[in-house]
Amino acid sequence: MRLHINIDHVATLRNARGTPYPDPIEAARVCLDAGAHGITAHLREDRRHIRDEDVERLRATLRATFNLECAATDEMIGIAVATRPDVVTLVPERREERTTEGGLDVVGQRESLAKHIAALQEAEIKVSLFIAPDPAQVEASRALGVEQIELHTGEYAHAFGFGRPSSHDLTRPLPDVAEGEYARLAAAAKQAHELGLEVAAGHGLTTRNVGALVRIPEIVELNIGHAVIADAVFMSLAGAVKAMLAAIERGRPTP
Ligand code: PXP
Repeated sequence: MRLHINIDHVATLRNARGTPYPDPIEAARVCLDAGAHGITAHLREDRRHIRDEDVERLRATLRATFNLECAATDEMIGIAVATRPDVVTLVPERREERTTEGGLDVVGQRESLAKHIAALQEAEIKVSLFIAPDPAQVEASRALGVEQIELHTGEYAHAFGFGRPSSHDLTRPLPDVAEGEYARLAAAAKQAHELGLEVAAGHGLTTRNVGALVRIPEIVELNIGHAVIADAVFMSLAGAVKAMLAAIERGRPTP
């Protein structure tokens, strides 16, 4: 299981005071030193956290997978093609949202997505689509010829709840409300894998809800930001990354 840390919130904190610190690129280094396998950053249209120069510095300095999240617009695809991250994850974006809400409507936006995906693939960039665990969206993603999908785990996380304890006792069943969302994720992951797509997952994941998720065998990558940066306030960034890796390990089925 690969763990990619989303460092957007470090940039949010930096931008709040207009100082050069905390530096998201320094955060990326600490995350990788602590055992993370890659770094994810979302360049939003309004540049509210990650900025263009962060993307350039990440590309120049990262010695691990760099996953750039962005909207499927001409501007963003132009930046991605010029910067050449290892992966581009296309996400829906609305200016007024606090964070990415919902998955891409691949079924409804097939044509415009196809153009952007072709430009990225021509530049030899792996493309991932952030989608809800919906069979029609999985099928439409495959039809567009992308290498990966990232399943939106927000509904699962929400159903799981955000209370204590900080890790779920994996010998106990999931909270009832989370079971339906978990089943949807498991079915979409299986469907995607059978169609030849690599399966990532992310959004709202915490040390509490991640253990059950890693039992879905087709999921090979997680993108996690908010919970790790929140835990870092109390445990240091390296400590928070290690706590997440330990939670993933606890969830792994024993052979
Ligand atoms: N994956 C995608 C596509 C996202 O947009 C985000 C949020 O930026 C994440 C993962 C990480 O979500 P969280 O910050 O809730 O861990």
